Amino acid sequence: MQVGIDMGLASGAPATLDIEELLATRLLVQGNSGSGKSHLLRRLLEQSAQWVQQVIIDPEGDFVTLSDRFGHVVVDGERTEAELAGIANRIRQHRVSCVLTLEGLDIEQQMRAAAAFLNGMFDADREYWYPVLVVVDEAQMFAPSVGGDVSEDARKASLGAMTNLMCRGRKRGLAGVIATQRLAKLAKNVAAEASNFLMGRTFLDIDMARAADLLGMDRRQAEMFRDLKRGHFVALGPALSRRPLPIQIGSVETSARSSSPKLMPLPESPQDVEDLIFTPDPEEFQRPVVRRAPPAPRPTTDILAELSRSTPAASPIQAEPRVVQPEISAEEREERLAGVLSEILDDPGSGFRTDAVLYQDFLVRLRMRRVPGPPMSLPEFRRRVAVSRSGVDAETAASENWSTALSLSASVTDDLQGVFLMLAKAAVCGEPCPSDARIARAYGTHSARRARRLLGYFEEQGSIVVHTDFSGKRIVAFPDIGCQTAPGDANAPDDSNGREAAE
Ligand SMILES: Nc1ncnc2c1ncn2[C@@H]1O[C@H](COP(=O)(O)OP(=O)(O)OP(=O)(O)O)[C@@H](O)[C@H]1O
Ligand SMILES: [Mg+2]
Repeated sequence: MQVGIDMGLASGAPATLDIEELLATRLLVQGNSGSGKSHLLRRLLEQSAQWVQQVIIDPEGDFVTLSDRFGHVVVDGERTEAELAGIANRIRQHRVSCVLTLEGLDIEQQMRAAAAFLNGMFDADREYWYPVLVVVDEAQMFAPSVGGDVSEDARKASLGAMTNLMCRGRKRGLAGVIATQRLAKLAKNVAAEASNFLMGRTFLDIDMARAADLLGMDRRQAEMFRDLKRGHFVALGPALSRRPLPIQIGSVETSARSSSPKLMPLPESPQDVEDLIFTPDPEEFQRPVVRRAPPAPRPTTDILAELSRSTPAASPIQAEPRVVQPEISAEEREERLAGVLSEILDDPGSGFRTDAVLYQDFLVRLRMRRVPGPPMSLPEFRRRVAVSRSGVDAETAASENWSTALSLSASVTDDLQGVFLMLAKAAVCGEPCPSDARIARAYGTHSARRARRLLGYFEEQGSIVVHTDFSGKRIVAFPDIGCQTAPGDANAPDDSNGREAAE
């Protein structure tokens, strides 16, 4: 059966693409970013949806909009490889069109997911080898010409699956349609298997040269790709045209979720812009920290901590350490640590320095005083700072309520412990509730709004209950400790010595 789908216009006449021929001869689309490749793929998919099963490997999640109009099943790539292979297999079995969206996955996960899915389709039982158009947008990601930052096995898996699709897929009913921004970035063996080409605007000589080679054109002739407009392509191949034919891709029915950026006037700058940007949302504290490859450089604090470790492990070939540190008792060491800590915290400016900065200062001072033994870790340091800043006296520190407060504080993140323990200390000692300004300082900021947000956050976590007395003064209760602060004026100013201003 011959079905010619309408791709747009070729010198005023309809430009047709023979779908059956395409199934046997595959297609490569090339054009720089914004040349209209994804639009072209969409036109092809929309026009052929009723004729052939389609599978789209979609790195940006752009094609999921085909689902409403044409019934494509949307498969989210965030699954195990076994699941993806199973779904791919059943997609062939039931002949359902689908979009595999890889949006949100990192590049290596995208490669692994695409490989699992393509292999799942490739490995389908012979009885399900019905024809499928397999469209891969941004194909250079899945079949890169050179190794990149991704692991070797992810690259091999993905490249292997793409090679299977383009080189060995035809017999199994798989017809690859691949699009790439840069021909030079696409593995040669994958590109070479396509017999149909749609070449869009191309700037770089190296891509132009590859295009000319693939199309069997003179390199000077290929210069025409430089001047092509968005949506204009040169078509060549058995399913398109026997000679290079300029065509203009027609319109589409569904829309891409992402489109080209448009200039928009900036909003008027609000007054308290710093507050808006730096005030954390309570949810931020709950979100796990996402670490992205490559790994972050080691913080200076870690390196300093390592450098300041007392004596390196003795090794037979090592010379004697130059400085032999005197042995001191555990109590004496603890006393010196506490002394250095309080030196730092007694500085009124310390409240507005980050813990990491204070920690560096602490480590340097320990080295200057030649305090032996391993240095305190940063979390332990933060904890000591928090306890010290809470201003707890020796008697309270020994009480059962305080030890409950300490164990509760372990459930909040390091950076919030200071604030938490300061509130807890006020509650355990029955002191007035600290003002916003005081809470803000304990968090290392001047923002009263941020202080109120922190209270809101602790309250949402269920660790405190905030209420007011009849005169409007604030009280913070700790249900788990069974105590609460005395009423305190939330708006009272904070004196820079750390004591609550007289009420
Ligand atoms: N033939 C066309 N008719 C109308 N609009 C088009 C046409 N081709 C592309 N566009 C529009 O131009 C913009 C860029 O097109 P598209 O997203 O298809 O580019 P692309 O080549 O896929 O770019 P990238 O490589 O960055 O993904 C889109 O907003 C698209 O709607
Ligand atoms: Mg695109």
